[in-house]
Amino acid sequence: MRRATTYIRTKVVRGAVIGSATALVAVAAPLGATANATADPTDCAAPEIVAHRGSGGTSPENTVASFRDARTSRATVVETDVQLSADGVPFLFHDGTGSRTTDVAEVFPERAGDPITSFTWAELRQLDAGSYFSPRYEGERIPHLNEAARPFAGSDVTVNIELKSPENSPGVEAVLAQELATNRTWQRLIAQDQVVVSSFDEASLTTFHELAPDIPVLQVGTIPEDEETLERWAGFADGVVTNYRTLDPADIERVRAHGLSFSVYTLNSPEAVQAAADLCVDQVISDFPTQMTRLLRGHDPLPMANGIEVLDVVADVPGDDLQPETGEHVVLTNTSGRAIDVGGYLLQDAVVNRLTVGEGYVIPPGGELRVYTGPGTNTADRYYNDLGRNVLNNDGDSVAVLTPQLRLLDLYAY
Ligand code: G3P
Ligand code: MG
Repeated sequence: MRRATTYIRTKVVRGAVIGSATALVAVAAPLGATANATADPTDCAAPEIVAHRGSGGTSPENTVASFRDARTSRATVVETDVQLSADGVPFLFHDGTGSRTTDVAEVFPERAGDPITSFTWAELRQLDAGSYFSPRYEGERIPHLNEAARPFAGSDVTVNIELKSPENSPGVEAVLAQELATNRTWQRLIAQDQVVVSSFDEASLTTFHELAPDIPVLQVGTIPEDEETLERWAGFADGVVTNYRTLDPADIERVRAHGLSFSVYTLNSPEAVQAAADLCVDQVISDFPTQMTRLLRGHDPLPMANGIEVLDVVADVPGDDLQPETGEHVVLTNTSGRAIDVGGYLLQDAVVNRLTVGEGYVIPPGGELRVYTGPGTNTADRYYNDLGRNVLNNDGDSVAVLTPQLRLLDLYAY
């Protein structure tokens, strides 16, 4: 059996969905697993699902709306990112600037590319952090740290607070420790072991750990090759969190031998999550927690699927990814028996960059449509977005297929 950690509660019961371990590992190539390296999945509980940045694939990341989404997802952990405003207020935000997820370019046109930590709390509160995702989230604000506690009060969800780029937020460790020690909602969660702190930055994490030794911490990063580093991490951390695309399955037991739990980020396809479950990891971090908890409970993760699926993502083409006619693209297929109008469909990557399918496009049964990022001449089976920037990450990414109303039809990771 998997070891229990101080904060991971193994209450999720492995469902009937676990069965074809070898086949699922084979299609989840980024995990790099082989049949021999696969643990016996009947020997471990299902991994906990960690809702990433709230529920960043289905609502605007790191907003109260996204925390509510995470709460209804049945994920047992929610992850968020904390930084410090210019006047020392802890706020929840991932990126280094506001340009991707806020209207900073409209509100502060001269400062759109400035560090998000250069804004005061009063300035941050003027930004709309929901509209980038959908007009239905207009008015969502960048939350204060304490707004991540309220949606989980009275639940059994654990909140994982990541010290994000702490070099840009000097003193964030002390501010976080102070808020957690004084805010009543945090205190109630802490009393029930429902708060954990994580970071890529070992120095920041150890600083926080010295200030708040009773709160478990997780070291995020590449698994070190040497045992000495793992042993040092084990001196302060309860677990490690690592990128699933570079995971060596042999590292799971290596890490556990030091008494550390093993979590992986950010898994956005059912196949990848299933493969990680088959490797008996402790936690899987996903932007689609509702879909992944459904999967691990033995339900269809995509009940609204209509047959339109991603067949392939050609992210790294010979030559320039944005060259005319033959640049990076997504191949959609229609696996249903009827023609489907895909006009206005959205193809969304892990950070909510979106390609759009033009109006009037219909994919016949068994047919394919290539949706390009760059320029070209539209034909019946090729549609060009003519964007001036790359969308499909060459090092691996995910693509969600959504209707114009944001109904989720497919999830694909490469
Ligand atoms: O917890 C790990 C994960 O959140 C790290 O990725 O960049 O989304 O914070 P990032
Ligand atoms: Mg994070």
